[in-house]
Amino acid sequence: MSGDRTTNTGGGNYNERIEGHYIDNRQTYINNVTPGKQNPPNNLQFSGTANFVGRQYELTLLRDRLQLAGTVALTAVAGMGGVGKTELAIQYVKKYEYDYPGGICWLSARESDLAANIVQFAQLYMNLEVPQQDFRGRALSLTEQVEWCWQHWQPPEGVALIILDDVTDIASCRDFLPKANRHRVLMTTRWRNLNPNLEEISLDLLSPQEALQLLTALVGNKRVQKEQLAAQELCEWLGYLPLGLELVGRYVAKKPPNYKLAQMLERLEAQRLENEAINRSSSGMQQSLSTAQSGILAAFELSWQKLTPATQLIAALLRNED
Ligand SMILES: Nc1ncnc2c1ncn2[C@@H]1O[C@H](COP(=O)(O)OP(=O)(O)O)[C@@H](O)[C@H]1O
Ligand SMILES: [Mg+2]
Repeated sequence: MSGDRTTNTGGGNYNERIEGHYIDNRQTYINNVTPGKQNPPNNLQFSGTANFVGRQYELTLLRDRLQLAGTVALTAVAGMGGVGKTELAIQYVKKYEYDYPGGICWLSARESDLAANIVQFAQLYMNLEVPQQDFRGRALSLTEQVEWCWQHWQPPEGVALIILDDVTDIASCRDFLPKANRHRVLMTTRWRNLNPNLEEISLDLLSPQEALQLLTALVGNKRVQKEQLAAQELCEWLGYLPLGLELVGRYVAKKPPNYKLAQMLERLEAQRLENEAINRSSSGMQQSLSTAQSGILAAFELSWQKLTPATQLIAALLRNED
């Protein structure tokens, strides 16, 4: 879930450290590992969705580009959240983990303290003592400390992947990016053409067929078989956006088996009309929303009460993003 992703950049130690009560309980573990046999550092916390659909082309393209080295950015269509950038990055890491014997470092670029998170990763996952001063006693800047981390990466050889999830401001990251070819950088971002030097893979909405496949995985084959037309309409209505499909799919899945997809559509439509009425009578600011966007907003109003806290977080994120 997006919300969890933005806050979970490390393991259990991370939280303890954040609160200023960091106890080095890694020590025992790391001391028990034979030098040179230590697993590559990896802080990926997310298992990814069990219902992953489509994106095979993008996964292959991503692999090809990252194998050639350099920096690759994933971008979403028209900056819309929920299209599946983070999910694609997770699936990529899961599928191609073994291309990275130098380790995997997942960082939320949304947080302002990206540099501090890189230093922290080196401390927690590579057991590095990052120097605070140079040999003359001059204090090292955060940028210099980050540079030191890239240079002293453990293991000392092997390609490593750095994921910067949800980059909004490339300028704030640029100083901290690694320069050596062994570090490959994968960014996700809502912006297109974030930087002319970045190679971008534009991530589009799902195809109608993939959307239907996702809905089927969420609400069950029986429901879709019984109401094929309504199922297709529902996908269209949600603009083939993974996040919308997931919100609505989970909502329907909780309903009794006789609950109809057509009913869902009707309720969404009613909710959209209500939203539009509210927007017209207020500032009118949302009139420029695309069909998919207003569809998602309607779905979100409707299912708010029924969502799990994690899904509420996604919905809230989407609302803030758009
Ligand atoms: N290809 C996909 N197949 C199935 N579910 C997906 C897919 N892409 C995204 N999702 C789901 O949709 C939701 C939004 O995806 P996310 O990657 O967080 O979007 P973004 O990072 O673009 O805002 C997540 O719950 C995710 O699991
Ligand atoms: Mg994301």
